[in-house]
Amino acid sequence: MKKIFVANFKMNKTNPEVLDYIQELNNHLPESLSSDVCLCLPYTSLCLGKFLDERIAVGAQNMHEEDFGPFTGEISADMLCCLGVKYVIIGHSERRKYFNETNEKINKKIKTALRHGLKVVLCVGETKVQRNSKRTTEILSQQIESALSGIFENELKGIIIAYEPVWAIGTGKVASSEDIEEAVKTIRKLISSHYSKQAAQDQKILYGGSLTSGTAKSILKIDGICGALVGGASLDPNEFIKIIS
Ligand code: PGA
Repeated sequence: MKKIFVANFKMNKTNPEVLDYIQELNNHLPESLSSDVCLCLPYTSLCLGKFLDERIAVGAQNMHEEDFGPFTGEISADMLCCLGVKYVIIGHSERRKYFNETNEKINKKIKTALRHGLKVVLCVGETKVQRNSKRTTEILSQQIESALSGIFENELKGIIIAYEPVWAIGTGKVASSEDIEEAVKTIRKLISSHYSKQAAQDQKILYGGSLTSGTAKSILKIDGICGALVGGASLDPNEFIKIIS
């Protein structure tokens, strides 16, 4: 399976800083780039995506579930598409935690994104408390079942699932290979029981949470992991290049 790397800039970098980053990235990209790479920029920088090397896609970090309307401060799928955006992160734990995004809202966003031809990076993952109380499988099941409710099997090719244990995000703590492998198995089992064995096999699953160039190699070797969602480490173009190469 082709590897996929998604950079999540979160609320970092002004437009001049993004332009510097793009220049550095374009200048040092390996010639033989064999993975899909996407930069999820802040909304204000999406218009700069056109300066990226054509092998790099541009993504957004969120979008509204409605197509248009009185939603002050929100951004629609059409607005993203008009800027050449190809991917959108949906259900990031920071959106769930700080912006009260429910599983139901995430499901609506996914349907809207797919209807507009955007590739969805669906984030799922348990908190430390949930893990400690052995609820990881239950939480992943809840998140995935509700996110994918009403989604048809042929639409799954537009969805990439990122397993991001909440306690590993931005903390410098990477989940152990065993924990990641276990989570990946749980996700595939869910896809298999709700869709088919083939769908489970084809499902693209990424890992996210404090991944750096130092830990990327071993994480990417984990059975069933086909790439990464990278936050902090993606902010330095040279570090990100090391990860994607
Ligand atoms: P991190 O963030 O790599 O800084 O832990 C990952 C994410 O939040 O997607």
